[in-house]
Amino acid sequence: MIDFVNRLFASDFMPHGVCFLWNPEIVWLHAISDVVITVSYYLIPILLVYFVRKRADLPFHWMFLMFGLFIFGCGTTHLMEVWTLWHGTYRLAGVIKAITAAASVVTAVLLVRLLPDALALPSPAQLRDANDALRRAHDGLERRVLERTAELAAANAELRAEMAHRQRADEERRQAQDALSEAQRELAHVARVTTMGELAASIAHEVNQPLSAVVTNANACLRWMAAEPPKLEEARKSVSRMLSDAHRASDVIGRIRSLLKKSEPEPTQQNVNELLRDVVLLLQDALTRQRVGVTLDLESHVPPVMGDRVQLQQVILNLVMNGVEAMNDVGDRPRQLLISTRAAEQGVAMTVQDSGVGIDPAVFEKLFEPFFTTKPEGMGMGLSVSRAIVQRHGGRLWASMNEGFGTTFHVALPAHV
Ligand SMILES: Nc1ncnc2c1ncn2[C@@H]1O[C@H](COP(=O)(O)OP(=O)(O)OP(=O)(O)O)[C@@H](O)[C@H]1O
Ligand SMILES: [Mg+2]
Repeated sequence: MIDFVNRLFASDFMPHGVCFLWNPEIVWLHAISDVVITVSYYLIPILLVYFVRKRADLPFHWMFLMFGLFIFGCGTTHLMEVWTLWHGTYRLAGVIKAITAAASVVTAVLLVRLLPDALALPSPAQLRDANDALRRAHDGLERRVLERTAELAAANAELRAEMAHRQRADEERRQAQDALSEAQRELAHVARVTTMGELAASIAHEVNQPLSAVVTNANACLRWMAAEPPKLEEARKSVSRMLSDAHRASDVIGRIRSLLKKSEPEPTQQNVNELLRDVVLLLQDALTRQRVGVTLDLESHVPPVMGDRVQLQQVILNLVMNGVEAMNDVGDRPRQLLISTRAAEQGVAMTVQDSGVGIDPAVFEKLFEPFFTTKPEGMGMGLSVSRAIVQRHGGRLWASMNEGFGTTFHVALPAHV
């Protein structure tokens, strides 16, 4: 073995040309053919390496390198064939063949193992098909995106139109609401003026009383001044009585004017007891004429409420007047009006109770409907206007029938906190 290695490069055998008897045609045929094969075989690995380096994405590129190695080995064996024509270096030629053989075996084995994977690689036709399918899918997707965008734009436009429509509807509703509030205010005013008109006689009397007193006191004053000597102290007392009577008359007129005035509601803090006393004062004469006894049962510490003075007085006025009117025909029992206030859980509870004719259960449900009246001269607006006012103040107005005679009207108003 050592001898083999030592003589690896020795040319101690007969050259191959001897076998060809040095026939020049055969020798040169072999020599030229082997040289051409060698050159070609050397060229192929160079090209393979170049190809692999250019196409780094290539699958199994190591296989190309194995081929390159194996073909390079084959080229070298052919080169040795040329050399051994003239030199008997057969040991080296054998070793080169053995190396080439090993490279071929390894390449062959690897190729066998690689074959299923290589076969699984998509062919260019398959790749083309896949590409086409991908392009089609892409086009389809783009078309759908466009369609969807158009749909969205349409939906958006629809939504905008709907919003504009709603805004218009809201605006119209608001205008209608404003018109309704205005109409309600007008109606309340008309109802108030009508009621006051009915009360004209008693109001005139209410104003007349202090004015008569002024006249009486003025006469007395003149008399005290005419006396000899003038009784100045007495005269002074008469003048101060005149003053207070004049104030009383002016107060009454002020109250009437405020009720007749058509003004925007002005919510301020109100004491229900005071409102009640004012209205009863105004109606004093009417109540006396109708022989109606009034009992005020007012709880002293009712919480204040927030509201418009004139509107709340209108509610009281209407309830009291309805009570009085309900007792018009009562002759066999006292005509009694009981007005009470209580501090309730969430505010003030007020009741106006009469001993009148009561309400026919058949019409009980209709009391608060506009224009419902059982009175020849009635407008039928009092209760509907009153309920609207109370509700606008966040409260409730309802009626109940008394155990005995008559009716009770209840008002609940929220306290102002
Ligand atoms: N205290 C009461 N007792 C009995 N019936 C009543 C009483 N209050 C109201 N009513 C009935 O309810 C109806 C409606 O009352 P409402 O105050 O709304 O109108 P009106 O009193 O008839 O007319 P007006 O608009 O002039 O007040 C009355 O006509 C009457 O039949
Ligand atoms: Mg009425």
